[in-house]
Amino acid sequence: MKLPDPLPGFSLPPATAASVATPRFIDCSARSPERQAPSSAHELAQGLMAPVASVSPKFFYDLLGSRLFEAITALDEYYPTRTEAAIFDAALPCMARAVAQSGLHHPCLIDLGAGNCAKAQKLIPQLQPRQYVPVDISVDFLKDAAAQLQGGFPALDLVGVGMDFSAGLALPEEVQPHDRVFFYPGSSLGNFPPSQALAFLRNIADPLQGKARGLLLGIDLVKDSATLQAAYDDALGVTAAFNKNLLRHVNARLTANFDVTQWRHVAFFNEAQSRIEMHLEAACDLTVRWPGHARCFAAGERIHTEYSYKYTVDGMTGLLRQAGFERVQHWSDPRQWFAVFWAAL
Ligand code: AVI
Repeated sequence: MKLPDPLPGFSLPPATAASVATPRFIDCSARSPERQAPSSAHELAQGLMAPVASVSPKFFYDLLGSRLFEAITALDEYYPTRTEAAIFDAALPCMARAVAQSGLHHPCLIDLGAGNCAKAQKLIPQLQPRQYVPVDISVDFLKDAAAQLQGGFPALDLVGVGMDFSAGLALPEEVQPHDRVFFYPGSSLGNFPPSQALAFLRNIADPLQGKARGLLLGIDLVKDSATLQAAYDDALGVTAAFNKNLLRHVNARLTANFDVTQWRHVAFFNEAQSRIEMHLEAACDLTVRWPGHARCFAAGERIHTEYSYKYTVDGMTGLLRQAGFERVQHWSDPRQWFAVFWAAL
């Protein structure tokens, strides 16, 4: 299958009625609500009423949150996206060879947390997938991105899937059941605590569940605290806006009355746990209400919003082997700040 050349750079061309075939799109939450995790309102209320309040980082990604995350990736301080992109630029042909050597020639490429699909744009011409399946929780954002990508690759069988894959990887039947290559870039695996990351990797590796043959995985590596800290507390305050926007999203989902001006962004590197921690801290004593509930926060009390674990190459190789991947190799940048792993079954 010959696919057209990739479009230049990271930006996708503007969609035009003439150039864009509408890709298939399956919104799993709308199709089978019973297969979804317990309702988001219930999950949010439980987290907010806990003695140490928390909200899952998946609630960052409403439409504005997805746009703010895109802005984060352009910040000087946020090195992961551009470092990973440089690794792909340098090693894409080697990666494609590794995938082919695992017996995968025109795989089904499943892009977990695809977002704006910009990373797959480079991968598709190299891997020449028979089917491309971008998956994301942010349905409207993904629909737009998938439509634009289809414009650049009109011959590609593209099936967009809107789902919360943190709740399970049961993909719809339209997704090719064999020769699946999972693509999980951007160090999003680092947003799971290690025990959950292992369970997630096992789920991908489980031949009955995911029918995967391999995984291309981007992981942020341990480095000095100052670099890490700046990446999550940038001078422009974009990460602070991204963190606080979560409260707007919670207001919409829960009919709650969070006032974003009463909350401060807190981010730091916890060296002992090898993770960035993000929290929202109450600037004064306050009460948040939503139907049937009220939660008081004292000044200085925090809501935990995200962990971002940083791994060593050996640590991640060990985790992948523990999950059942037999052959693991990786590529890194000259500073060893980030690594892309190919893990095959
Ligand atoms: C999506 N994820 C890998 C990002 C990270 O670096 O953990 C989310 C993020 N949070 C703050 N900045 C970026």
